Amino acid sequence: MKVSVSFLSSDNIPRDLKKLNDTDCDYIHVDIMDGIFVKNKTMPWSEMKNIYKYTDKRLDVHLMVSDPTKYIKNYSSLNTEYITIHSEIPGDITSYIRLIKSYNIKAGIAIKPNTNIRDIIPYLPYVDLILVMSVEPGEGGQEFIPSSYDKVKEIRHLLKEYKLNNIIINIDGGVNNNTKSMCVDCDMVVSGSYIVKSDNFQNKIDSLR
Ligand code: DX5
Ligand code: ZN
Repeated sequence: MKVSVSFLSSDNIPRDLKKLNDTDCDYIHVDIMDGIFVKNKTMPWSEMKNIYKYTDKRLDVHLMVSDPTKYIKNYSSLNTEYITIHSEIPGDITSYIRLIKSYNIKAGIAIKPNTNIRDIIPYLPYVDLILVMSVEPGEGGQEFIPSSYDKVKEIRHLLKEYKLNNIIINIDGGVNNNTKSMCVDCDMVVSGSYIVKSDNFQNKIDSLR
């Protein structure tokens, strides 16, 4: 199981990114919120662009924003492997995915807990990753929604049906050692507070593998 660590709940980002650099985590999950698509707002680009100073890990960028255009341009200039946009935003999703790809970055489509999986079918031929939200997007430290387990199973089924074997399934929100059994059908998990609020990052990462 790949592990992507979110530092959204960190109270000292430079310190925690340096600590994560010494673990074997696969990605750093970067949560970006615009105060429009979700209520909260995260640090501006002028501060976020400095994260490359503290980590050599590849970034898995999660855009919880209603207009991703400028964020895609900015984050593609960092050490980014994935940029994920939400399926619920207004605008032409396929053209945003094309924009991500134009920077040679892998594209992800995220789906909120109450969004029907049928809604993402049109985008599947163009994406590399599906991000299943197991909490309502907007803040860290929430509880895992158990029905996400069935949602992942359905998506797995859908990918088989459409013979889209290269798309990976990622899950985000409330992932810890108690909820990881509900993530077994995923290829990757995002975990934030469970790791960054602990005193041994590597142990917690090991417990999710
Ligand atoms: C929620 C974010 C998540 C979150 C994960 O809106 O997208 O990435 O920070 O943090 P935990 O693991 O604390 O739920
Ligand atoms: Zn996230």
